[in-house]
Amino acid sequence: MKTNSIIFDAYGTLFDVNSAAEKCKNKIGDKWEAFANFWRTTQLEYTWLRSLMKRHKNFWQITEESLDKSMKVFGIDMVMKNDLLNLYKVLSPYPEVKEVLKILKNKNYKLAILSNGTPDLLNELVQSNQLNDLFDDLFSVEDVKIYKPDSRVYDLPIKKYKIKPEEVTFLSANTWDVSGGGNYGYNAVWVNRNNTIFDNLDFKPKNEVNNLTQLLELI
Ligand code: LAC
Repeated sequence: MKTNSIIFDAYGTLFDVNSAAEKCKNKIGDKWEAFANFWRTTQLEYTWLRSLMKRHKNFWQITEESLDKSMKVFGIDMVMKNDLLNLYKVLSPYPEVKEVLKILKNKNYKLAILSNGTPDLLNELVQSNQLNDLFDDLFSVEDVKIYKPDSRVYDLPIKKYKIKPEEVTFLSANTWDVSGGGNYGYNAVWVNRNNTIFDNLDFKPKNEVNNLTQLLELI
């Protein structure tokens, strides 16, 4: 695979979106994982719906509003809301992430994040996990105020680096984001962390990995 720029989705790809609820599982009980999945699905639905309705709110507002609904649906005591939100700001990376990023950095790849997250959220995520020195750029949808998979989002690194879409290797664990980036023209690689089924949205990735370590064999 010929590439100089490796661009990662953040939530679900580098950082475990379920880790906030998991850290509260003693208080939430057995339903913590179903609750975490519902929160994530609602959060993403709000990004797509707000983009279609042209009523943008930033990812932090959307994360809070989707949490609010999810806590009500699952009957979780609202006193936990601030704990869950604070934990969401410092989500844990998947175990292999730091090591793989270090190896790629040493091989002189340009490394960036392209995410729905706000610049503040992305900065806090990489800083709290000591990953800040590894990235050249943290691209946020806030520059265009519309969410993935709008092509204006995937344009952001192309405009800054003045390269062609096919020169980007883009990794996401979110199938719809792989479709979005792939249809845009990126060399999009699916990080199939949970052994699931890909979408039927025109693009099929040529390459699939189960974790980022396997990426090292592809490039
Ligand atoms: C992001 C979402 C899609 O980081 O996970 O952009």
